[in-house]
Amino acid sequence: MIADKKGIRSQYPLLHNCTYLNTANAGAMSQATLQKGTDYLTEFAQYASQKLPLWMGEMEETRKLFAELLNASSEEIGLTWDTSYGISWVQQMLPPDLELVLVKHDFPSVTLPWIHHNRKIHWIDWDMKSHIDLKAIEKALSGKPKVLVISHVQYTNGYRVDLEAISAICQKHGAFLIVDAIQSLGVIPIDLQKIHIDVLAASSYKWLTSGYGAGMIYINKNSTKRLQQGALGPGSMTDFLKDPIPAENLKHPPQSLEAGHPKPLLILMQGQALKELKAIGWQNIYEELKVLSAKLHSAITEGGFTPMAPRDEKSWSGIVSFECDKSLHQKLTDEKIITTYRPNYLRAAVHFYNEEGEIDKFRKVLPT
Ligand SMILES: Cc1ncc(COP(=O)(O)O)c(C=O)c1O
Repeated sequence: MIADKKGIRSQYPLLHNCTYLNTANAGAMSQATLQKGTDYLTEFAQYASQKLPLWMGEMEETRKLFAELLNASSEEIGLTWDTSYGISWVQQMLPPDLELVLVKHDFPSVTLPWIHHNRKIHWIDWDMKSHIDLKAIEKALSGKPKVLVISHVQYTNGYRVDLEAISAICQKHGAFLIVDAIQSLGVIPIDLQKIHIDVLAASSYKWLTSGYGAGMIYINKNSTKRLQQGALGPGSMTDFLKDPIPAENLKHPPQSLEAGHPKPLLILMQGQALKELKAIGWQNIYEELKVLSAKLHSAITEGGFTPMAPRDEKSWSGIVSFECDKSLHQKLTDEKIITTYRPNYLRAAVHFYNEEGEIDKFRKVLPT
């Protein structure tokens, strides 16, 4: 239950002019997050680097918010700019002969870094309509240690994989687990003290509502020993004035990956968005999403369509997709109901800021 949803909605300009069912594409940004960005730019124009120590302090707050959200430690959080770079960096940090296990139809950020760096890949077949086959994953991971890279929530149909089960399989077979959490972070709880994940990467422009350009990477502190250093620069040093040669003057991944000068603009905006969501309550957001997602699922079924992904307690997410003709997407767009159309299917998504009435409006455009 979200207290004062009307009041909260009024803080998001995008929600004033349409029915926004498209957070899986990009989330709405609040007025306060926008203001944080404009304040930073104004201050930069007036003071340039003189304010850098202050901004760096605030950036550490952003890091702590991520650590808290994931039940990890701040040292395990790197502030990045997107999911793709996070996974690509780790690809370069892992021994080149390690083999991969990937799922068909997963997002290019998950698959491309390995395909085009000549890794041996074991593909898991998936038709986007059934559960991802955990037995097939286990079979592919058996034998010599491998790397499994997988999206927590699949961008196509919103299917959420059972991270707990996947992590247990990886642990059993000594596999290195990398999770793309862009479609789940902030809305589906992930407790890294309960589930072992080696690397988790995400951007904040979807469910974390902070706009394009900021992201995060988590690297488990015990997993860094399996990685070489990646991108390096002055920001990788414990103190930039120290001798760069001794290894002890370098930070560990993921913070060593923050190689260049700090990039406060988007990280401060990300911190502001995280604070707002935390104030609403991560658990409240999750519970609201559950109700709205179930209603969206029912609306689609009542409208005569079949949601693509199997749905149960562990596999639902904020996304519901179904096959339909492109003309339905046009009809929705004409009614200012914003969704995404990909060849043959329509993807709708709800976030905590959506109202049940918006789903009713969506339902009215579907056949009766
Ligand atoms: C599963 C998944 N991974 C990654 C991305 C995008 O990654 P990035 O943060 O690099 O833009 C998307 C965007 O839609 C996605 O759905």
